[in-house]
Amino acid sequence: MGVCIALSAPDTRFLNPEMPARYAVIGNPVAHSRSPWIHAEFARQTGQDLTYEAILAPLDGFAQAVRAFRDAGGRGMNVTVPFKREAFELSDAPSPRAQQAGAVNTLTFEEGRILGDNTDGAGLVRDLEQNLGFPLAGRRVLLMGAGGAARGVLFPLLARGLARLTIANRTVSRAEELAASARSAGYRDVAACGYDALAGQTFDLVINSTSVSLAGELPPLPRGLFAPGSLAYDLVYGQGTTPFLRQARAQGAGRIADGLGMLVEQAAESFQVWRGVRPATRSVIERLARELPPVD
Ligand code: ATR
Repeated sequence: MGVCIALSAPDTRFLNPEMPARYAVIGNPVAHSRSPWIHAEFARQTGQDLTYEAILAPLDGFAQAVRAFRDAGGRGMNVTVPFKREAFELSDAPSPRAQQAGAVNTLTFEEGRILGDNTDGAGLVRDLEQNLGFPLAGRRVLLMGAGGAARGVLFPLLARGLARLTIANRTVSRAEELAASARSAGYRDVAACGYDALAGQTFDLVINSTSVSLAGELPPLPRGLFAPGSLAYDLVYGQGTTPFLRQARAQGAGRIADGLGMLVEQAAESFQVWRGVRPATRSVIERLARELPPVD
């Protein structure tokens, strides 16, 4: 016997209007974060109905703050300093690129699970290749530093088919650990050393992932590292022309760039993970660049 269903227009007075999807960046400190502005721009540009806020978590209260945001209806979060490692540990399902980075900067709350991803490396690669017009295949690359920031970009760089990657670090054993993990993943042309041992080598791309630029200091680089037409890239942004970039230019780097483009590109990648649409980034980068101290 068939079931008779009465079809009539729903009484909309009793339906909750669809709320905007809630997202946030979580960190400590977080007040300086440009992510709320960037994601608001992306949402406006793509017509997505969402809100994006900044949440300051106590240093010992990260997991609690994430769960509170999720339980209040949050759909996803970006994670910044110093919680990316903890976010990885909190994830029920870290993506392959999060596992390679050992860190998570993008959380998605889905059917009771916390999904973890890392868009930092993809953001750097996109900034280098698309925005700066610097194809990575066949390049000799020097990565300065072997901390969390270096690990976050290591595999996305290698996946572009570099000719060679050298990781230089003050504590050589940390560089060796990173190089060993790359070699065990099948990337053979990866070397590790201290800064002194770089003397006599040249590179097409030199990336500073150390924290020295934040202190306005200079990594101890020997002269002659920069091949003609080479690019020097500092992962930090908003610091103007850092001592590293100034030294790179003085020593013959063809071009210099800071991490502003990477910041916007990793945000765009997170936005795509969450919303399934990729926002255009160029105008957002240009507008931010006008507000921040210039790399001149
Ligand atoms: P992050 O997550 O920002 O990478 P981190 O894991 O603490 O932070 O790593 C900081 C990086 O900056 C490391 O490569 C560190 O070198 P060590 O491993 O030898 O500590 C590097 N760094 C910090 N201060 C430095 C300095 N004064 N000179 C050279 N390298 C420095």
